[in-house]
Amino acid sequence: MRIVVGVAGGIAAYKAVQVVREFVLAGHEVHVVPTASALRFVGLPTWEAISRHDVTDDLFDHVAEVRHVGLGQSADLIVVAPATAHTLAKLAHGLSDDLLGTTILASDAPLVVAPAMHTEMWRNPATQANVATLRERGIHVVGPADGRLTGRDSGPGRMSEPHEIVEAALAAASSPSASGDLAGRRVVITAGGTREPLDPVRFIGNRSTGRQGVELARAAVRRGAEVTLIAANLEVAADGLTVQNVSTTAELQEAALLAAETADLVIMAAAVADYRPAVVADEKIKKDVQGDELALRLVRNPDILHELSIARRSGQVVVGFAAETETDPDAQLALGRAKIARKGCDYLVLNRVGWHEGFASAENAVVVLSASGDIVAEASGSKASVADRILDVLA
Ligand code: CTP
Repeated sequence: MRIVVGVAGGIAAYKAVQVVREFVLAGHEVHVVPTASALRFVGLPTWEAISRHDVTDDLFDHVAEVRHVGLGQSADLIVVAPATAHTLAKLAHGLSDDLLGTTILASDAPLVVAPAMHTEMWRNPATQANVATLRERGIHVVGPADGRLTGRDSGPGRMSEPHEIVEAALAAASSPSASGDLAGRRVVITAGGTREPLDPVRFIGNRSTGRQGVELARAAVRRGAEVTLIAANLEVAADGLTVQNVSTTAELQEAALLAAETADLVIMAAAVADYRPAVVADEKIKKDVQGDELALRLVRNPDILHELSIARRSGQVVVGFAAETETDPDAQLALGRAKIARKGCDYLVLNRVGWHEGFASAENAVVVLSASGDIVAEASGSKASVADRILDVLA
């Protein structure tokens, strides 16, 4: 997900560093927009190092990129922590005299604010009226907590703890949006890697961790879709989506074909075993019986993506993934084009994998091909942001 963290000028800005850190470690792409006074508490190098992106508070930087609205337009979530009394007042009145103001006004992403101020300022009727206005507009207000403040005073006004802000923000971002571009659509996504048993304790599997598929499912939920995630050997928290757990290719095939019957969009992100053992031993295979060599006979599994493409209803979109170890980009593209022609799906998401690439990493780089073999999108960055770029094409 692409997250903008706005930081207003309060001492709690130092705690916002941890908020940014937690988002980055969770694999999100984070852009920090401090106000000028926030930079008097925590400086630019800290925000840049922790977010791994350039940071500015200046409306007149990067003008050619139209940055004053670009960040807001492309954000999936905006979090303001700390939100001072002044910043809450600006938000309530739609003021846009700095980069944070324009970013927020130019965005339709969920907005989460974490107020932080002294108790008297928090209780002031002006602040309370501003907060009520923001709540009415559907803005999520986290805290403030009741506790020790900067001076000797204590009371309501202390910024919520970073992990509480992160949790509330992610919950706000994953609550289905009735106005999202996938609102009312049924989406089926397969993720993870299938396992083919050899005996009661062993299987043939692959290194897929399912992260890209899970990010696609979460992004589709955020965009308003009704999502079924068919999870092959994955533990997934079912926040806002239906999860069906499967293990073998046969189980995945049955679940995917059934779920696809009522789906508008089917995405096969799972890494499916192409072969399974011809015979599954009832008992553990023993060395003293097998001797120095063990030959396994494998048989072909059905190609689920191909079957889904053949069974596709009119108006339904079927998407495949292709993981290739080919290093030459042109040769990789040629493999992708041959694969989409063979599989018969509408789109193919092509990514490179290898001993050190693709699997388990938080980042990904993909090319999306259409049925005619044309490149319709390229995306790189966190798997969450790549998921959104893929859905931009499909939506
Ligand atoms: N797939 C499938 N059923 C299979 C194998 C793969 O549905 N038995 C799907 C995958 O989920 C993915 C796409 O097909 O969406 C491509 O998978 P990939 O492993 O890259 O392709 P293969 O069909 O295995 O082709 P090759 O062996 O030539 O790489």
